[in-house]
Amino acid sequence: MDQLVLEGGRPLTGVVPVSGAKNAALPVLAACLLTEAPVVLERVPALQDVHTQLSLLRHLGVGASWQDDEVVALSAAALAEPVAPYELVRTMRASFLVLGPLLARCGHAEVSLPGGCAIGARPVDQHLVGLQRLGVALEVVGGYVRARAPRGLRGARIVMNQVTVGGTEHLLMAAACARGHTVLENAAEEPEVVDLARFLRRLGARIEGEGTARIEIEGVEHLEGGRFAILPDRIEAASYLLAGAATRGRVTVQGVVPAHLGAVLDKLEEAGARVDVEAEAVTVALEDRPRPVSLRTAPYPGFPTDVQAQFMALACLATGVSRVRETVFENRFMHVPELARFGAQISLEDARSAVVTGVPKLVGAPVMATDLRASFSLVIAALAAEGESIIDRLYHMDRGYAAMTEKLRGLGAQVARRKAPPG
Ligand code: UD1
Repeated sequence: MDQLVLEGGRPLTGVVPVSGAKNAALPVLAACLLTEAPVVLERVPALQDVHTQLSLLRHLGVGASWQDDEVVALSAAALAEPVAPYELVRTMRASFLVLGPLLARCGHAEVSLPGGCAIGARPVDQHLVGLQRLGVALEVVGGYVRARAPRGLRGARIVMNQVTVGGTEHLLMAAACARGHTVLENAAEEPEVVDLARFLRRLGARIEGEGTARIEIEGVEHLEGGRFAILPDRIEAASYLLAGAATRGRVTVQGVVPAHLGAVLDKLEEAGARVDVEAEAVTVALEDRPRPVSLRTAPYPGFPTDVQAQFMALACLATGVSRVRETVFENRFMHVPELARFGAQISLEDARSAVVTGVPKLVGAPVMATDLRASFSLVIAALAAEGESIIDRLYHMDRGYAAMTEKLRGLGAQVARRKAPPG
């Protein structure tokens, strides 16, 4: 297993290119199952989760090949048996999104219930209830969802009980090829949902209202092929900006949609950082210790849960007390004991509220990555800390941060990746 060795205490400075968004690429890849025609995707990040999704698609009979560093060509002209096995679905929740498209194409499918980061119960009830509304008959047997739509999918009005990104994406894909009109109420408004809608529209789907809580879809009989570029990763961008601020440096993220970073940039300004926004770039600079900032995660356009851990790393160095409340997931403070190893002072009021008392400095330590985004909070703490840190279980980061070591080096970080010594 690989680990990261970092020598902290130096400001990060420079420009870092932002990759395509993992959370947009994964549903778009699943949506490729909906069309028999060839699709070419650009700005696909070469991440472990993307490789996992591609393996699953290949297993389902899709031809998928990298044409270039970030370009993938796909063809789902002929599909194999529509079964997504546990081995391919267990590591990543987004793989479950193949169920809807498989039902649209084949009329039946068997998909293992998903795995993913251990950040809460993360059920898929909203996905399943929505599919049932679209005419799917399903049962859960031995950890698998067995589903049939013998008379095809048909449009319906679906009010989701809870704002769910994956659930909205799943039903959007299924409804795109259903017979008739679908209305999704209480839909997620995340930019990644919008990107999926744009992709489906590129293939000929009829969708309106994405980016709002009410999406309307007029089903079409079949979709065409097309070429599409995945949107830039706002979570990766926010992570590097926070690393810049925590090390009291100056970092520019290049190739982003600044509007997608709104809530994070507001909080960075509140912390005392200087934020410069250009058309496709954002620069953040911080010279002094950050001011304390309290925040509460929420669905978009609120503060993203996927940046909560990274922001907490910055708050660890603030000149006062910050409060962090996690409202999206019920178990997303696994980074807290690891941050404490650097000397951070964090106490949990309950499973969803943390109180962070800023300290003047952190000191390097050996730590362990616990989940994808939380792992980057450890990178930020290690970069800001005095001395050497070792971060174990790097595979968590490989799921979501493309070329992380190279990108950090480009900003002047002293960082190396190596095999963990045995024992
Ligand atoms: C996606 C993102 C993830 C991000 C999350 C919230 C991808 C691949 N992953 O995950 O990085 O942290 O959005 O922004 O895009 N829920 C239910 N029932 C359901 C579905 C969800 O109760 O059927 C709950 C979940 O347990 C969670 C909340 O709803 O508490 C939000 O989950 P959801 O928005 O679905 O997250 P994901 O799509 O899994």
